[in-house]
Amino acid sequence: MDKFLISGPCRIKGQINIQGSKNAALPILASTLLFDNAVVIENLPRVKDIDTMLNLLKSLGSNIQIYNNKKTVRISRIKNSKYLASYSLVKTMRAGILVLGPMISKYHKSITSLPGGCLIGARPVNFHLNALKKLGMKYEIKKGYIHASSKGKLKGTQIKFSKISVGATENTIIAACLAKGKTTLKNCAIEPEIKDLTNFLNSGGAKIKWVGKRTCQIIGVESLNQTRYSVMGDRIETGTFCVAATISNGDLKIKNFNPKIIQTEINILKKTGAKIKTSKNEIHIKGPKNIKNINSIITKEYPNFPTDLQAQFMVLLCKAKGRSSITESIFENRFMHVAELRRLGAKILIKENRAIIAGNTQFIGAELMSSDLRASVALVLAAIVSKGKSTINRIYHLDRGYEKIEKKLQKVGVKIKRLT
Ligand code: UD1
Repeated sequence: MDKFLISGPCRIKGQINIQGSKNAALPILASTLLFDNAVVIENLPRVKDIDTMLNLLKSLGSNIQIYNNKKTVRISRIKNSKYLASYSLVKTMRAGILVLGPMISKYHKSITSLPGGCLIGARPVNFHLNALKKLGMKYEIKKGYIHASSKGKLKGTQIKFSKISVGATENTIIAACLAKGKTTLKNCAIEPEIKDLTNFLNSGGAKIKWVGKRTCQIIGVESLNQTRYSVMGDRIETGTFCVAATISNGDLKIKNFNPKIIQTEINILKKTGAKIKTSKNEIHIKGPKNIKNINSIITKEYPNFPTDLQAQFMVLLCKAKGRSSITESIFENRFMHVAELRRLGAKILIKENRAIIAGNTQFIGAELMSSDLRASVALVLAAIVSKGKSTINRIYHLDRGYEKIEKKLQKVGVKIKRLT
């Protein structure tokens, strides 16, 4: 198993390019199952989850050609469609459930593995199933699989999600594209990745309109046709590098990302003392000598502060002068990084879903264990500003979502090595 060796402390200085968004690319790739003709998708991040989704699509009969160093794919229409999304593929990546909506909509049949829980929480898929059922899908759960079917086309209707869910919103929007008539979805998630998905689908002939802040209207069409689309930049990778620059008193130019998308995060970073200049597709960030504490960050649905940056900001606040707090309101068990950060010297108290961070931490390097994708990158950030050597084990979690992170970090001054 690969691990990282990091010698700290390091100061981040230089320029990096942001990868395509993993969380936008995954639903976009799943939705190619709807198309009758070939689609070309550009700016894919070269990360493990994308490989998993491409393997899943192949197993469902998609024909996939890969170009441009794996950043571009051409996916052509399904021949001899298969209907089984197997456990072996879906268990490693919960976004595998996103093939259910398009399969039912296009082929009226699917056997999709239930994703199961993961370390950060139970993560059920009841909102996906309830919404697809309202569109006409019937299903039964047998031996860990969702056996689903519909009598011909799905039928448009009005659905109000009881709770905001990114994945359920995506699955339902995709399914409604080929349904009969009009679907109105209320209380939708409005993460930028979902807007990227609807832009992609519209570019292929779908009729999707946002008609209110959280209301999406879809008029079903007969078919979706060819398109070429470039995936948006990754806001979580951007946020992670912004923290890296801030925490290390760094000076970093971040290219290929529209700063307007992460206004909430930029405002918090400014409060910690970072100096930030933005232009259309660039962020220039300089970290302060003394990081200021922040009281009461709360993770919440977009446009609020994202749960996927919670662990990274916690590392930053460990180095702040004074006490800070972060409340996690999306997932029930997303503080696994805390135990590892404590091993580096952090003083963090957990009270239910709130972390109270003492601040003024002088991290000392240690041997660490990755637990999930975002927790792992938080450990990398902490190791960058720790005194001495750190080893981070099980970095396969990181490879799921960050493209060659060690190469990018080496380029901006981090002493990091991958040991295989
Ligand atoms: C997506 C992101 C993930 C991010 C999360 C929250 C992708 C591939 N993943 O995950 O990186 O952390 O949004 O921003 O885009 N829930 C239910 N029943 C459901 C669905 C969700 O109870 O059917 C709960 C979840 O357990 C969680 C909350 O709703 O507590 C939000 O989850 P959701 O927005 O659906 O997250 P994902 O789409 O899985």
